[in-house]
Amino acid sequence: MAQSNVFPPSPEFVKRARVQGMEGYRALYRRAAEKPEEFWGELAEKELFFFQKWSHVFEWHPPFAKWFAGGKTNVAYNCLDRHLATHRKNKVAILWEGEPGDQRLISYQELHRLVCRFANVLKARGLKTGDRAIIYMGMVPELPIAMLACARLGITHSVVFGGFSAEALKTRIQDLEAQIVIAADGAWRRGREVRLKDAVDEALPDCPSVRDVVVLERTGGAVHMKDGRDHWWHELDEGVSEHCPAEPLDSEHPLFALYTSGTTGKPKGIVHTTAGYLIHVHMTVQWVFDLREEDTFWCSADIGWVTGHSYIVYGPLSNGATSVMYEGSPDYPQPDRMWRLIEKHRVNILYTSPTAIRAFIRHGDQWPNAHDMSSLRLLGSVGEPINPAAWEWYYKTIGKERCPIVDTWWQTETGGMMIAPMPGAVPLKPGSGTLPMPGVVADVVDLEGQPAPANREGFLIVRRPWPGIARTIWRDPERYRQQYWERIPGVYMTGDAARRDEDGYYWILGRVDDVMNVSGHRLSTMELESALVRHPAVAEAAVVGKPHEITGQAVACFVTLKKGDWNHDELAEDLRKWVAHEIGSFAKPEQIRFTDALPKTRSGKIMRRLLREIVTSNAVTGDVTTLEDLSVVTRLASQHDEE
Ligand code: WT7
Repeated sequence: MAQSNVFPPSPEFVKRARVQGMEGYRALYRRAAEKPEEFWGELAEKELFFFQKWSHVFEWHPPFAKWFAGGKTNVAYNCLDRHLATHRKNKVAILWEGEPGDQRLISYQELHRLVCRFANVLKARGLKTGDRAIIYMGMVPELPIAMLACARLGITHSVVFGGFSAEALKTRIQDLEAQIVIAADGAWRRGREVRLKDAVDEALPDCPSVRDVVVLERTGGAVHMKDGRDHWWHELDEGVSEHCPAEPLDSEHPLFALYTSGTTGKPKGIVHTTAGYLIHVHMTVQWVFDLREEDTFWCSADIGWVTGHSYIVYGPLSNGATSVMYEGSPDYPQPDRMWRLIEKHRVNILYTSPTAIRAFIRHGDQWPNAHDMSSLRLLGSVGEPINPAAWEWYYKTIGKERCPIVDTWWQTETGGMMIAPMPGAVPLKPGSGTLPMPGVVADVVDLEGQPAPANREGFLIVRRPWPGIARTIWRDPERYRQQYWERIPGVYMTGDAARRDEDGYYWILGRVDDVMNVSGHRLSTMELESALVRHPAVAEAAVVGKPHEITGQAVACFVTLKKGDWNHDELAEDLRKWVAHEIGSFAKPEQIRFTDALPKTRSGKIMRRLLREIVTSNAVTGDVTTLEDLSVVTRLASQHDEE
């Protein structure tokens, strides 16, 4: 599909849209650019509830921003309590389906009750505003219930994706110094139990900060409960009061810290706060998903990633939407599970990832074609660039050429969407996230910070803080400054390369740092390398992303071994298991190559660019004059032919 393919919104879509036509988009964008404080102040006043109004909309002590300082509010109150006095009181808030086919439809009133009960459970364990909770569960309603209960009391939560290993869980608990772990016995995945509580048990001996573990019974698998430390959710919940007022919290109170991979071996806890984060996710749900009262909205991400935080839990619930949540694997028991769900629940908006779309393409059109998906009116994509073939299939086979596709670019650090189309306003170009959201002053620049001419590749930056921007890295403000604000002083560095075309549309070209994107999940080459060198057989390791048909990128490792008599096949398998143990099974390398040496510059830096070329094209063309030992590269490249 050529870039010149443009899909303007249909007149029928425009007629009912929240933001209509380019004039509508431009008016919003212009006002946010010219009068940001008035723009966001008015929206917060109109759209959110505050116990106490702010004194300043925006304060900026570079690189640290504050929004709505002096105000008092509560995210759980905004997501629950304020809907109870409206017609939404008995509207379904969370429409949940378990992998085995069990189903729960939880109304706003019911969700409020469950959240209040669990907040009282947390209180009874002695938790208070400012404490921290790690949440390690599968996709069950108790996961958002736990998040909202924390939010209600001002306990900063950190959800750890259920695919992370005990080792990864441990480093996150330690870094956050959490007082409590909220977990489940297990989770269902492809008909099998993922044993979450076992991982908690493995992590906790090295986590002295944790006093209590609350365990939800989900799978019923046998678990060991440690006396005095571990408690069943349903036992603590017995006879608990359903009355629990929401704490009036400072606008800048940390709502959550979500760990993501950076360019070092240590994951960073990205901190989001209260009022600014909420207005950002609240408004982008309206602008980009064009949400209507009667919509059934499904974001198919896992809540363990930021997409689920912002667009399953906080954004949709704050808007009083019906948010669909599905526990299991999209291809279980058959590859039509998602299409079945859409047909059964008459889903109107689907938000998913290019990796999922490519996997569906491979399964074949017979699966979606067997279902009536005429309820769909809007499709979304997130996590990685969407390739033309995936776009076209999504548009035709799923959307039947009726549904606009909103390709949304954002990051864990941005809190919510940054570059994305308003579907009733902005003509689509497949593969482009189109134009920035109001309040997002994006640019494509060179290393000196000078704007790049149209269609020239450069660094994607944002010039001014927006309400949802991460405030810091947990307990490491200096890393926050260095990572995002130092390279070009005073502007936010996204870490992505991009170009902007003659219409001002943004085209994301991928990361400029040593971060990979596997299935729309960020993985750090350094984190993988440090995991590999912890293995007793490994001397050195270099990890690069290798293009992959389904997952976008896959993990490719180059490994040199310590002296010994190794069986390469067995060792490769052992190293895959090792990575699953150290990080999680989703990070398992696809390819492991053993080599005598790694290509390095004279200063000893591994030349990942060369390795990337080897795994991509198998030819090395770039500049190799700084290589210490050219023969290493020739050997690595020729090795491929023997495989
Ligand atoms: C990185 C952020 C946003 C939530 C999920 C991932 C890449 C994300 C797109 C898109 C092209 C995209 C970027 C970004 N990315 N969305 N629509 N088009 N690239 O969050 O794990 O923080 O990763 O994902 O490279 O920097 P994340």
